[in-house]
Amino acid sequence: MTGTTEQVTDEDVALEWRRRAERPGLARVMRASQPDTLNTGVTEQTRQVVGDQLALVAEHLGHRPRSALEIGCGIGRLTPTIAAHADRVHAVDMTPAMLDQARAACGGLATVDFSCERIDRMAVPRQRYDTAVCVWVLMHVLDEEQLTAACHTIAASTRYLTLIEYEGANVPVSRWSRLRTLDEYLALMPGGEVVDRRVVDYGGDTSFAALIGFGGEAGR
Ligand SMILES: C[S@@+](CC[C@H](N)C(=O)[O-])C[C@H]1O[C@@H](n2cnc3c(N)ncnc32)[C@H](O)[C@@H]1O
Repeated sequence: MTGTTEQVTDEDVALEWRRRAERPGLARVMRASQPDTLNTGVTEQTRQVVGDQLALVAEHLGHRPRSALEIGCGIGRLTPTIAAHADRVHAVDMTPAMLDQARAACGGLATVDFSCERIDRMAVPRQRYDTAVCVWVLMHVLDEEQLTAACHTIAASTRYLTLIEYEGANVPVSRWSRLRTLDEYLALMPGGEVVDRRVVDYGGDTSFAALIGFGGEAGR
């Protein structure tokens, strides 16, 4: 794992997300230093990968996912893509100002609902979601205990997970991010098995995009 060791409190993190929610356009959920054209291209590429992996989930389940959990939906950049592949989507985010924008962006989508939750404090649902999508969220969970709680909750809450996180960056990683490998996340997700793995190259920066199945037969 790389990143700074500087102490950052929960309140600092919450304030940073409130600040980011005030940025223009895609910079609210992507690097502000990147040109808009790169952010737009990366977003298209990410939607494609998420859509491909949700189609793979449908193949494995033998039907289109009936329920999907989007973890850290931000401004709803990827929510319509998930809604196009699942009967119902529950999208959560810890930042009210991000959720307001996601609700506005997805206003026409009757199958999506939103709630303000932190994934590391979320209760495990009685019934697993068929699938979940988590893009560039866990890399921002700085506290290792919170990361463990988040990963355990995810592993117990869904049959499949598309997890996309930066693993290599060309520029120094900010104090708000931690680069971790897929194996480091998997070690915190009991029963997780990689079903599909891709490397997504964003002009030098790389993310892994992993489709993870949980619980052996439960994941089939
Ligand atoms: C970089 S943005 C990515 C948003 C979205 N997944 C996307 O790809 O466009 C990270 C989002 O995760 C949210 N977030 C960060 N930590 C979280 C946590 N512990 N629980 C829920 N949401 C969290 C932030 O509020 C922010 O909206």
